[in-house]
Amino acid sequence: MIISSISFKGGVGKSTCATNIATCLAHKGYKVCLVDADDVTKSAMKWAGRRDAKEHKPRIQTVGVYEPKGFIQAVKGQYEHYDALIIDSPPSDKPVSSKIILASSLVVIPVAPKGAVDLWIVEEFLKRYEEIQDSMGSSIPAYFLLNQYKPALNLHRAFEDNLKKYADAYGIGLLKARFHDRVAYGECIGKGMGVIEYDNITAKREVTAVVDELLAAYQKL
Ligand SMILES: Nc1ncnc2c1ncn2[C@@H]1O[C@H](COP(=O)(O)OP(=O)(O)OP(=O)(O)O)[C@@H](O)[C@H]1O
Ligand SMILES: [Mg+2]
Repeated sequence: MIISSISFKGGVGKSTCATNIATCLAHKGYKVCLVDADDVTKSAMKWAGRRDAKEHKPRIQTVGVYEPKGFIQAVKGQYEHYDALIIDSPPSDKPVSSKIILASSLVVIPVAPKGAVDLWIVEEFLKRYEEIQDSMGSSIPAYFLLNQYKPALNLHRAFEDNLKKYADAYGIGLLKARFHDRVAYGECIGKGMGVIEYDNITAKREVTAVVDELLAAYQKL
């Protein structure tokens, strides 16, 4: 299974999502490789560099693949050695972005429900996503993941309703599980950990719920 975490918006949680899906799958026994395709922030590589080989097990192989030319072949070549590849993406529509989508068996689109701008960029992404699929005659399932969600906020609940409309219009799924706004996510990324390995039981549960939903979706493919 090749899962990409992608959006054309910066700071929505692409790297948080990728590193947490990767660690959660690794703890479930999958042989996981994390692929960093964001040549500017290189957050996945930095995360891996902070992961203590003795303290944080299992080991998660992390590689940087940044060149659009040969991207799909490089990723598929890497996949031969693993059960799961998780790709972290850059925050805009770069030449590598379409390659990331085409290399994926499942696409996760983290969305921060902060306001209209986030929805406008979701729409830009979805238009491009359709174009990419049409150009290749392929259909790649995609799921929105609400991130930094605060259920008490009217703004966030209204955002979710609008996101559902986009999901329906473009045939995209919306994961029932979501990441709430929690300090644990910020703390873990700086330590090279996933929240599955941390002391916040609620965060652990929500990451596990997201991964279980993705695994169920993958099994139906
Ligand atoms: N659910 C969450 N709760 C609290 N903080 C979060 C959550 N998700 C992400 N963050 C924080 O938000 C910031 C942006 O997250 P992250 O780096 O994962 O986003 P990104 O989309 O990969 O950003 P970029 O576009 O710069 O690559 C980080 O400081 C991260 O720790
Ligand atoms: Mg990132």
